[in-house]
Amino acid sequence: MAQLEYDTLSITDAVIGRLAECQDPRFKQVMTSLIKHLHDFARDVDLKGDEWIRAIEFLTACGKTCDDKRQEFILLSDTLGLSMLVVALEHARALKGRSGATPPTDATVQGPFYWEGAPELPLGADIAEGVPGEPALYSGRVTDLEGKPLQGALLDIWSGDGDGVYDMQRDGSPMRARARIRTDAQGRYWFWSIRPTYYPVPDDGPVGDMLRKMGRHPNRPGHIHMMVSAPGHTRVVTHLFVKNSPYLDSDAVFGVRDSLIVDFEQHEAGTAMDGRKMTKPYHVAHYDFRLIPQGAGA
Ligand code: BEZ
Ligand code: FE
Repeated sequence: MAQLEYDTLSITDAVIGRLAECQDPRFKQVMTSLIKHLHDFARDVDLKGDEWIRAIEFLTACGKTCDDKRQEFILLSDTLGLSMLVVALEHARALKGRSGATPPTDATVQGPFYWEGAPELPLGADIAEGVPGEPALYSGRVTDLEGKPLQGALLDIWSGDGDGVYDMQRDGSPMRARARIRTDAQGRYWFWSIRPTYYPVPDDGPVGDMLRKMGRHPNRPGHIHMMVSAPGHTRVVTHLFVKNSPYLDSDAVFGVRDSLIVDFEQHEAGTAMDGRKMTKPYHVAHYDFRLIPQGAGA
């Protein structure tokens, strides 16, 4: 006769055993591992009933905080380092089986402030006209891993303003400090925006409460987001981080990569490299993106 009752150890195999008829091998693998780790976790901390109910209440509050603009579960994943772990696993998978001297541009988290359909602006445009912040000229190239320029590569760019606030966080705001820019025949891009500053992730919900209870701050170092794509190449979702920004060493979502930290050189007012006459001081940030050809690796 099948076993009817279980102890604190045998219950794990009993639950996993109920997957015997599961027809999806990957789902079966993932659920088996999830059950095993979940049970091991409960045994490890000797989980109490009131702690279990508080966890249920926390997850319920996360669900109630979600709407079409806010995804508290992704924020939870971000702040627990899971999102960045998944990004790193994806990156390692894309590189598997490849050898070669030049590494591709590192990826990092997308975050909640991407807004599809930013205007496509010409090279050299100021994508943040009227936005508070210190002006910055961004330039560089998009190439493949051999350094071959990618003409017509698309940079989908977004950032907060110089006060650390995204357009989406201001009620009814139109798109600001966002654009899509395409590279020229030499794979070059350049545009003007502002130098972004640090800001907190949305911390007025259950994830914010969790961070405070953990003794953590909610801040991210200054960064500009870029989603860079080109036909025949794997799209990279990444940021450029401002060198010497506060919180580079303690990003609330663990998104910093050394390779993405960029010097924002300070320049006095005058004629900038692209010929634009600047009446106030500005910054210059340079970064070359390297994309992985599709089909590379295992
Ligand atoms: C962001 O950089 O926009 C962001 C990323 C993760 C969570 C919250 C914000
Ligand atoms: Fe951001």
